Amino acid sequence: MAKNSEKPGTSKGASGIWGGRFAAGPADIMLKINASIDFDRRLYAQDIAASKAHAAMLAKTGIISDDDGNAIAKGLDDIAKEIESGDFDFKQELEDIHMNVESRLGEMIGAAAGRLHTARSRNDQVATDFRLWVRDALNDLDAGVKGLQAALIDRADEHAATAMPGFTHLQSAQPVTLGHHLLAYVEMLGRDRGRAADCAKRLNESPLGAAALAGTSFPIDREMTAKALGFAAPMANSLDAVSDRDFALEFLSLAAILGVHLSRLAEEIVLWCSSQFAYAQMPDAFSTGSSIMPQKRNPDAAELVRAKAGGLIGALNTLMIVMKGLPLAYGKDMQEDKVPVFNAADTLALCVAAMTGMVAEASFNKDKMRVDAGKGYATATDLADWLVREKNMPFRDAHHVTGALVKLAEEKNVGLEQLSLSEMQSVSPDITESVFGVLSVEDSLKSRDSFGGTAPGRVQDAVNEARKRFLD
Ligand code: ARG
Repeated sequence: MAKNSEKPGTSKGASGIWGGRFAAGPADIMLKINASIDFDRRLYAQDIAASKAHAAMLAKTGIISDDDGNAIAKGLDDIAKEIESGDFDFKQELEDIHMNVESRLGEMIGAAAGRLHTARSRNDQVATDFRLWVRDALNDLDAGVKGLQAALIDRADEHAATAMPGFTHLQSAQPVTLGHHLLAYVEMLGRDRGRAADCAKRLNESPLGAAALAGTSFPIDREMTAKALGFAAPMANSLDAVSDRDFALEFLSLAAILGVHLSRLAEEIVLWCSSQFAYAQMPDAFSTGSSIMPQKRNPDAAELVRAKAGGLIGALNTLMIVMKGLPLAYGKDMQEDKVPVFNAADTLALCVAAMTGMVAEASFNKDKMRVDAGKGYATATDLADWLVREKNMPFRDAHHVTGALVKLAEEKNVGLEQLSLSEMQSVSPDITESVFGVLSVEDSLKSRDSFGGTAPGRVQDAVNEARKRFLD
């Protein structure tokens, strides 16, 4: 082995650990493609926690001695400190975090380190570490999204009665309040958090002890390690335990959906900040100027959130495609599961934080929104509803009459409320003076008092409820 590893382009690397069967070390290019340490070092805390749980179990069941168990635990704690202080020398030739830690443990405590890997494999080890990591990531994500909900709820509270146009097809539809609009995102984010909670619950079973794929001949206690790591139970099937990554796919799915929600809000911010809409202005801290056009104030942060949703969707696709053709059980392909998950977690943390800042500090142009809320015959539905309610007209007929009135107003280039009563009666003789009580934006808003509707009173109630449902 030593002789071969001296050949140019080869080195001993991790084959020092499994080298019994190998005559030659891997080619440098093999080391490079095989190594995951550049990214999976992020699993170090989970790897050490899982190894400590495993060693304690090995000692408790008498598979290793208490002395060895204690030496391993102490060594692992020291390694954690070393990594945290930045003194740990991560080695590519040791391939991944598991072998980097184990090798360092050998340097620190000697022969006892070689007993840690009894009754386990890197296959159950990495599956365990990664589940723990995703569990932590879900927790962090939940806290971030909750913060964004809090910012949205605060702004909704402030703007429970602020009128703005509500759109369908991006055409003026009916007036809504800004508070109502913002609370729509609070609901979406609430479901995103629900998906995260589901994912966390389902992933919370321990693969540890599944060993390479078939279980182990040692009298291990899987309940003990599961409990020590905060898992609800050991996974029931060793093949499944080492080879599925559905928990990562669920994480990426909910990340992609959350990304889509953030992107839609980002898109609205971009629209609202345009001089054509002019509904909102982002704070300086979240805007950039142009190097050539002095008047510009670009909502870059929102645009980037919108763009980064593409990467989140891509991350889900990446892992779906990695997994779809793999026969049971473990395949090295699965090493690539971490890259999209780490990227998605980082991207989301950034996007959620940027969104929270933008929402918290945006200034809204109430006057412009109020003017636009009344444009485009936005209270036409209120007129039709009035005909139904007051004149007992079937809704379809009322729709037809209102359409004719809109046409008349359009010809005269006025708003509906600017038509005279006799002009209205020329279309429908039944119409009386009281119709003018439903044509203003404020009346329209107030009338939409159904549960979940946009009436300012309802929105204020919804704000209070949202605080209880999402922030308590
Ligand atoms: N670095 C590997 C991964 O992330 C660890 C498992 C390696 N297992 C093996 N049989 N080669 O998947």
